[in-house]
Amino acid sequence: MEELKIALIGAGFMGKAHSMAFATMPMCYWPAPALPVRDLVIDIDKDIAEEAMLRFGFSRFGTDWKQAVTDPSIDIIDIATPNDMHLEIAIEAFKNGKHVFCEKPIARNVAEAEQMYNAAKSSGVKHMLAFNYRRTPGVLLAKEIIEKGEIGSIQSFRGTYHQDWSAAQSTPISWRFQKDISGSGALGDLGSHVIDLARFLVSEISHVTGYSNTLIGERPIRCGGVDTIGNVQIQDRTRMATVDVDDEVSFICKFKNGASGSIEATRNAWGRNNFITLEIYGDKGSIYFNYENRDELQVFYADDPVNRRGFRTIYTGPAHPEGSALWPIPALGIGYIDTKIIECHDFIQAIIENKEVSPNFKDGFEIAKICDAVQRLEDEGSWLSI
Ligand SMILES: NC(=O)c1ccc[n+]([C@@H]2O[C@H](COP(=O)([O-])OP(=O)(O)OC[C@H]3O[C@@H](n4cnc5c(N)ncnc54)[C@H](O)[C@@H]3O)[C@@H](O)[C@H]2O)c1
Repeated sequence: MEELKIALIGAGFMGKAHSMAFATMPMCYWPAPALPVRDLVIDIDKDIAEEAMLRFGFSRFGTDWKQAVTDPSIDIIDIATPNDMHLEIAIEAFKNGKHVFCEKPIARNVAEAEQMYNAAKSSGVKHMLAFNYRRTPGVLLAKEIIEKGEIGSIQSFRGTYHQDWSAAQSTPISWRFQKDISGSGALGDLGSHVIDLARFLVSEISHVTGYSNTLIGERPIRCGGVDTIGNVQIQDRTRMATVDVDDEVSFICKFKNGASGSIEATRNAWGRNNFITLEIYGDKGSIYFNYENRDELQVFYADDPVNRRGFRTIYTGPAHPEGSALWPIPALGIGYIDTKIIECHDFIQAIIENKEVSPNFKDGFEIAKICDAVQRLEDEGSWLSI
């Protein structure tokens, strides 16, 4: 079986998730399209890189991403760094003929996204963005139901992504609150996933109006404890730093197919952990999905007898998209990593079969255009006074 050598750049939260997917993909999909080989892991922090080599099963480690993109033995560059590094690494990887798998959002802003898309287009290699939630079996089942016309033509979409890890002012500053590294806050971090899901399930978005807001303008500088999201011991509350990205964003949109929609994202909604919800209303029925119960898809069919109408709950399993690769029993428990395994499979398959895979850098650019429009609304103003 063919082998593809991976260089992972960035060994944090996503570095771990990607490594798990590379390791387990062939256990789920057999025969695998090719074997992903965890060869080289790079992190700017030497201790993290060395530990990642041991923990995540890589053969080598390094601290300079240029070592990875210029190494002739590497087939795939996997970008799992903060957003400010996506552009430079991707462009150099394309120049060196590497396939590129890149975390979302594609970049900090639309100008960077356009450069990356142009570089990807002329590269002749495969590129994919890690909007993994669209690969949740329940979401794939929703797509199948919509495409078969079972809920008719789509009239409206409501999507949310709510978390609460930054709701406390004591959550320390990190790159996720700094525009020069992240580009935006909840919008690019969480909202971009919902925009991806909306484009995947409904159609392209043509217009937006809405707002974004920073709820907590200053956060303490971390000076102790563990670096776990929202769970860090602050030892000195006098050292504060400015937050210059949004904590929450909310907008309504029009889709090119005539449907309407609303999208909300916040990292400050107490009690919400990974509250990705989708409500999709067609002229023959409706779909409801909540990632916190991701084994379930709720579907309502308007042609059920009037005295039997109601949402039915389908537990995804082997009979559903990608289900036979995962577990033999419905409702056994789809995990976050399952979405990454499916994503990894589809990327490796696209390389081996020389076909396009989605979402790719074109999708990333389209999503960046929507995020850019939402950000500009704050400056250009879309509010009417009462
Ligand atoms: N798909 C998802 O569900 C999801 C979830 C979380 C994060 N993300 C995305 O993944 C990316 C990484 O996020 P994370 O949560 O893993 O961040 P993280 O902070 O946990 O890890 C980032 C790692 O990159 C390293 N790094 C920073 N600059 C580097 C450089 N120049 N060269 C090499 N290594 C460098 C850091 O030392 C750190 O170990 C971001 O783009 C983020 O938006 C996606």
